[in-house]
Amino acid sequence: MSRIFSGIQSTGNLHLGNYLGAVRNWVQLQHDYECLFCVVDMHAITVWQDPAALKASTREVAAAMIASGVDAKKHIIFNQSQVPAHAELAWIFNCVARLGWLNRMTQFKDKAGKNRENASVGLYAYPNLMAADILLYKATHVPVGEDQKQHLELARDIAQKFNNDYGVEDFFPLPEPMIFGTATRVMSLKDGTKKMSKSDPSDLSRITMTDDADTIAKKIRKAKTDPEPLPDNAKGLEGRPEAANLLGIYAALSDTTLDETIAKFAGEGFGTFKQHLADLAVAKLDPIQGEMRRLMADIGHVDAVLKDGAERARAMAEPIIAEIKETVGFLNV
Ligand code: TYM
Repeated sequence: MSRIFSGIQSTGNLHLGNYLGAVRNWVQLQHDYECLFCVVDMHAITVWQDPAALKASTREVAAAMIASGVDAKKHIIFNQSQVPAHAELAWIFNCVARLGWLNRMTQFKDKAGKNRENASVGLYAYPNLMAADILLYKATHVPVGEDQKQHLELARDIAQKFNNDYGVEDFFPLPEPMIFGTATRVMSLKDGTKKMSKSDPSDLSRITMTDDADTIAKKIRKAKTDPEPLPDNAKGLEGRPEAANLLGIYAALSDTTLDETIAKFAGEGFGTFKQHLADLAVAKLDPIQGEMRRLMADIGHVDAVLKDGAERARAMAEPIIAEIKETVGFLNV
């Protein structure tokens, strides 16, 4: 049985990288797998979130999943905090994972920055909760952007160590990362060497799923470039991270390969290319954004989807967490 689990944090500023690197791929995969898609609000609070904004963002991420085409009837959309077994299993994994493993996590180093002493313990233990999300459902495949690869390797290590320590060979599957498409790592519009991210202080660095057409066009117009015309082959993108990023975004949005996109714009200046990119981005995002706005005006519907999803997720998780607790030796009287 192949089962997909994937998640997005509800930290606001859902952006084009989240869409192209994750959600869009989920929409394709849902035809071939049983899927759970989770709004990970417990991960979100590893850095401070205003409580009202957190609720709004949880609904917005769910709305984006539905608007992008995830079938919430056939599959499951829910928010993490509604299924307590995520936290229970995360605790068990806190006791399985080794400090040395977590010390290697580059995302913690990036997010904690220089003032590591002041980072929350949750931010440090975050990958254990992520492993719990996946393994609570014995998910076998995890479609994500490239930045989550290291966390998935850790999830595999945790699964393996649990299976070994408790002598339950094959209890947890070793989840496979699925990192595919032309936009596995969308970069900042202001710096082609930095990942597009929800937490970048500059709003001009990202296209968000709530930007209107004018804002999208403006951000693309203002995106950093270099003075050279566009190259005629992929080798010509070496040392040109901004050009590579914008062409990659065009390729992803137009469902073509990078080589085809390069051929289409070979020798063009950025001015012309950016106009084409802005038109394409607006054309592709506008229907999704329209649907998101419609859903956000009907919160009752979004909440009903999340409630139903949580009920079904709990029903799937319950027998598995019961078996895990029995395996660990927790007395249940
Ligand atoms: P998060 O919320 O940072 O991002 C959600 C998804 O978007 C992808 N992504 C990107 N893809 C391409 N280019 C980018 N610039 C970019 N930025 C983000 C991420 O790779 C991810 O697929 N820890 C996860 C959430 C999570 C999770 C899980 C994922 C929690 N539990 C279990 C999979 C399975 C995170 O913070 O994603």
